[in-house]
Amino acid sequence: MRRTRVCDILGVKYPIIQSPMNYPVTPQLVAAVSNAGGLGIVSGNMMVDKALERDGDPQKVAEHTRAMIRQVRKLTNKPFGINLGIKGSQARMKQIWKGEQVELSIEERLRVAIEEKVPIAYVSTGGPEILTEALHKAGMKVIHIGTTVRHARKAEEAGVDIFACAGYEAGGHSPGKSETPLFVLLPQVVDAVKLPVVSGCGVGDARGMVAAFALGAEGICMGTRFLATHESRLHPKAKQAIVEADDTGTVAWGRRIGTGLGRTLKNRFTQKYLEMELSGASGLELVQFVEESYQDPTGRGLQRRESAYFNADLEWGEMYMGAVAGLIREIKGAGDVVRDMVADFDKVMARLNRDPLPTRL
Ligand SMILES: Cc1cc2nc3c(=O)[nH]c(=O)nc-3n(C[C@H](O)[C@H](O)[C@H](O)COP(=O)(O)O)c2cc1C
Repeated sequence: MRRTRVCDILGVKYPIIQSPMNYPVTPQLVAAVSNAGGLGIVSGNMMVDKALERDGDPQKVAEHTRAMIRQVRKLTNKPFGINLGIKGSQARMKQIWKGEQVELSIEERLRVAIEEKVPIAYVSTGGPEILTEALHKAGMKVIHIGTTVRHARKAEEAGVDIFACAGYEAGGHSPGKSETPLFVLLPQVVDAVKLPVVSGCGVGDARGMVAAFALGAEGICMGTRFLATHESRLHPKAKQAIVEADDTGTVAWGRRIGTGLGRTLKNRFTQKYLEMELSGASGLELVQFVEESYQDPTGRGLQRRESAYFNADLEWGEMYMGAVAGLIREIKGAGDVVRDMVADFDKVMARLNRDPLPTRL
C-alpha cells in the first residue's frame, strides 16, 4: 500500500484510522490498531457501562480519559489519537427542547489530552475554528470530521491537518444533518480543498479502500468494521448482529430531535420512533420517548444505547452501526482488520491493473 500525506502527518505506516466510538472502544482496540500500523483513537466513554457525563463531574470524566490514555501507552509505543469536541448529547437536546439555557462547553478531556501529550486530536463536534489553534499550540495534529463541502472548506480555513469526509451511510451520529452518500460527496470534497481528505465511513474491506482512493481520499477511517472485533467491548450478541445485518439492516433517524441523524440497527425501537415522527410527534415527545420510556430488562438502569451495547437488547436498544455492517461477515482481531486491509488492498490493485472487470475478494 502506498504512503500518502496522511501517513507523514500522523506518523503511521498505513493511512488507516479507527474512528472514535463511545463505549465499545477499549485500550486494547486502540493499541491493536496502532501496533498494526494504523491509528487508534481513544474515545469518550471507554470501559464504563453508563454515560460518564450523567454524573455531572467533569473531573471524573477527565481522569477516566487519563487512565485510558495511560493504558494505551502501556500497550503501544506507536502514535494514537483522542476524540475531542464540544459536549453534546440527547440529554442536552432535551434541555434545549424544554427551553432551558444550555451552555456548550469544551470537554475537560482537552486539558488531559494536552497534559498527557497525545499527539493527535480527532475532532467531531463543534466548528473547526473553536479548537484547532489551541490543539496546534499544544503540538497536536488535527483530524476534523464533517459531511459537506462547506465543512471541508471551513476545516481548511481553520488550519485543520486532515479532513475526514463522512456520508449518509456512516454509523453513529456522523451523518449529522446531511443525506449525501460518500460516493458522490468524497470527490466533491477532494476537488474543493487542498488539505488531505480521508474517507470518514463506509469502508468494510479493501475494495472500499481502493474505491476511496480512486475518489481522491488519501486514507480511510473505519468505525463499524472495528466494532466487530475481539477487542471491542460490545456484548457478543451485539457483535453478531453486525455480522448478521444485511444491506437493508440499518436506518438513519433523529432529524426531529435535533441531534442530527444517527444510524443504528433497524429494529422495533427505530420503527416506533419513525412512526411517531411520521405522525407529527414533537421534538420533545420524541426525545422523551428515546430517553425516558426505556426500561432496562436487566434492571441495571442502562439507557437504550448502553443496553443495546452491553445487554444486547437488539429489539428496543439503540444499536449504533453503519450501513457497511452488511459487508462485515466475521468478527476478528483489530490488528487483523488492518493487516488484512493492507494485504487485500494490494491484491485488489493488482487485479484492477490486470483485469478491470468486477473485483471480488
Ligand atoms: C457505536 C458507535 C459509536 C460512535 N461514537 C462516536 C463518538 O463517540 N464520537 C464520534 O466522533 N463518532 C462516533 N461514532 C461515529 C464513528 O466515529 C464514525 O464516524 C463512523 O462509525 C464511521 O462510519 P462507519 O461505521 O461506516 O465506518 C460512533 C459510531 C458508532 C458505530
